[in-house]
Amino acid sequence: CGIVGYNGFVDAKEILLKGLEKLEYRGYDSAGIAVHNEEGITVFKEKGRIADLRKAVDEDVVSTVGIGHTRWATHGVPNRRNAHPHQSANGRFTLVHNGVIENYHLLQKAYLKGIQMQSDTDTEVLVQLIELFVKEEGLSTVEAFRKTLSLVHGSYALALLDNEDAGTIYVAKNKSPLLVGVGEDFNVVASDAMAMLQVTDQFIELHDKEIVVVRRDSVEISKLDGRIVERAPYKAELDMSDIEKGTYAHYMLKEMDEQPSVVRKIIQAYELDGELAIDEEILTAINAADRLYIIAAGTSYHSGLVGKAYFEKMAQIPVEVHISSEFGYNMPLLSEKPLFIFLSQSGETADSRQVLVKVKEMGYPALTITNVQGSTLSREADYTLLLHAGPEIAVASTKAYVAQLAVLAVAAYVAGKARGNAIDFDLKQELAIAATAISAIIDSKEEMEQIAEDYLKIARNAFFIGRNLDFCVSLEGALKLKEISYIQAEGFAGGELKHGTIALIEEGTPVFALVTQEQVALNIRGNVKEVVARGANACIIASEGLEEEGDRLVLPHVHPLLTPLVSVVPLQLISYYAALHRRCDVDKPRNLAKSVTVE
Ligand code: G6P
Repeated sequence: CGIVGYNGFVDAKEILLKGLEKLEYRGYDSAGIAVHNEEGITVFKEKGRIADLRKAVDEDVVSTVGIGHTRWATHGVPNRRNAHPHQSANGRFTLVHNGVIENYHLLQKAYLKGIQMQSDTDTEVLVQLIELFVKEEGLSTVEAFRKTLSLVHGSYALALLDNEDAGTIYVAKNKSPLLVGVGEDFNVVASDAMAMLQVTDQFIELHDKEIVVVRRDSVEISKLDGRIVERAPYKAELDMSDIEKGTYAHYMLKEMDEQPSVVRKIIQAYELDGELAIDEEILTAINAADRLYIIAAGTSYHSGLVGKAYFEKMAQIPVEVHISSEFGYNMPLLSEKPLFIFLSQSGETADSRQVLVKVKEMGYPALTITNVQGSTLSREADYTLLLHAGPEIAVASTKAYVAQLAVLAVAAYVAGKARGNAIDFDLKQELAIAATAISAIIDSKEEMEQIAEDYLKIARNAFFIGRNLDFCVSLEGALKLKEISYIQAEGFAGGELKHGTIALIEEGTPVFALVTQEQVALNIRGNVKEVVARGANACIIASEGLEEEGDRLVLPHVHPLLTPLVSVVPLQLISYYAALHRRCDVDKPRNLAKSVTVE
């Protein structure tokens, strides 16, 4: 979910709606705003997108103070009733929330027995508690807010309006991201700076368990225990043009197109005196470890699998890759000197963060590799390496995946060199070659569109197979197709298919096979024969030098370790066109959110 707030001197509605549009990547099941004027607080909310909310907003209600929310449903189905903002029984308080209140049921039982709840959300319990403490204990709003938060277990970014004080937004944060933006004669609140770049580029970072009283002309931060905190604003280094679609039909298309320049940017960012380099401290931490544990979710998990090969092959350090939501609650036996690497485009994924908190408590060092400077995972880890991919807005990750592969390769290469390992190639040069290869594929988009048409037009399911690094990319190819076209897809190790899953192959089942790894090229071709013999419609994508007659696509030759950066691109494009053919919402697929800040 994403939240926004505005306290200033112009009508708040448009600023809130525009802000929410920029936060839609965080969820788009329902949305709402609440504005405060002399008449009191007015709430508008709707199931669906911000565009639906826009239609429901009454233009005649003018106010200079307001809060807003876009939701990714956790507690309660995505309908209007469960949409934020939520209000207390007597309507005095109005609240928006991002996060999960784990003990909401207990709090409800302990304090709110007599109160008829108006939604199925955990959030409503908070707003009811605040009203209860004001009414029954005579507390001020900020005291009631504090008391409520001291009872809560869970994560939250909150913005609260009080019907009896039109000049104030109360804000609090724990584990979920939240910033306060400062302007001249106005202040704003947002889950992400992107939402409020429209009015300011000056932001104050908030820390966990802080409460902020945001007025038009002041921002007062305090700890839950009441201690006042002073913190200066920083300038958000973001450009509006980075977050606009421009002439592109979709952000996903724009972001796929940016991939060659992202790789080139990474070469530049990690170059020192003509050589690839990473921060000395990070290098020392990597080389001091006896094992690396890469922790990630979704697409980042898939790039982690490739990262394992990079570190093991170039740096000769053993690596384990784990899904964050599994790792935290079922830790394997750890080595003596582990280094944890958190891979996360957003740097906000709650599943990954819970692992970071645990390993820090255990006293282990942690490195975050992320696209977002200042993100939670970056702030809380000991070290950060940035992806330099620029904001990624489409829910399906593309350029961040390629950026993760490039940065992992750089880190592994630099670590390997520092250890004196025999690495017989110049990664800088090979990355530049890969960037050119990606450009060539992007320039032949029509071919991918045709492949999508030929193989996926009427498909109900599809398989992606490969061996070795191609297997890692197959997983990502399948995820892309599932996410945006809703075609059921599986990524599989080519040799494993015959041990059960091949039973699913029928006449016409599309099977995309990657052939970029020389030592297993014959094996994967054998696997393709097995599925073709059972009726599959095979689409072979091979690297130049390994191609055979009948292959559907030949990818420009790149270093064998870097083929994932290149072979993933046609799979992204094929998924994109398959989704377009099915008239799916490419940038905002159903049920998903780009940044999942709940566990
Ligand atoms: C969400 C997104 C995925 C993403 C995953 C991990 O589920 O929909 O595209 O891969 O989160 O995100 P992160 O920001 O940690 O890489």
